[in-house]
Amino acid sequence: MNSGLRQEYLAALGLEVWTRRATPVSPLDDALRSGDALPSGDTAALREAGADWGELKARVAACTRCPLSATRTQTVFGVGNLHADWLIVGEAPGAEEDRRGEPFVGRAGQLLNSMLLAIGLPREQVYIANVLKCRPPGNRDPGPSEAAECLPYLEQQIALLKPKIMLAVGRIAAQNLLRTDKTLGTLRQQVHRFGLARVPLVVTYHPAYLLRTPADKRKAWEDLKFARDVCSRV
Ligand code: URA
Repeated sequence: MNSGLRQEYLAALGLEVWTRRATPVSPLDDALRSGDALPSGDTAALREAGADWGELKARVAACTRCPLSATRTQTVFGVGNLHADWLIVGEAPGAEEDRRGEPFVGRAGQLLNSMLLAIGLPREQVYIANVLKCRPPGNRDPGPSEAAECLPYLEQQIALLKPKIMLAVGRIAAQNLLRTDKTLGTLRQQVHRFGLARVPLVVTYHPAYLLRTPADKRKAWEDLKFARDVCSRV
């Protein structure tokens, strides 16, 4: 991306232009070496492993594993490049996503697009999905059993996509993927690992939170650069 364009996207994020500082030793290399194994729902993912994208999407569309199936307009499977290096994972569809059947299409989605473009990634180049495929009524947090029922679908998407990196946006996505109740502040700026394939996973703020708290956009920008560096080393 040319520097003028990047400047424009950074301006959309409310940030100044970033210039690279020489760092003698990269803490990232250490982090990449030391990422702890993450016990996740691998068994469930393997159980689903026969499904290809089409079958999986059909299975999700017909899902009645939890009560959210009764209140959704439609399932929100995920969208993007099936050969993407980057998998972006959010929390759950909101009202607009439930209506349109695509993740991150509201205001938060527009900011997410700008955030990705700021590191040179057009939306079409990544894959975007959520922990939950159905909208929780009133945009409440996903319940633990809803997340547990739905995660195998995401795990199968990951098995099919084989991303080089996962970016968890927001506390709810991060906590569910990493099976932790640690705060987002504790989880960011580290390389976590997801699943049997030990996919590097980086955590950052949810764009909806950043719309409410623009002062933290700078930290999100640090996280995006961190994730880009991780990806370049995979
Ligand atoms: N927030 C999310 O976490 N996911 C969406 O798809 C939309 C808003």
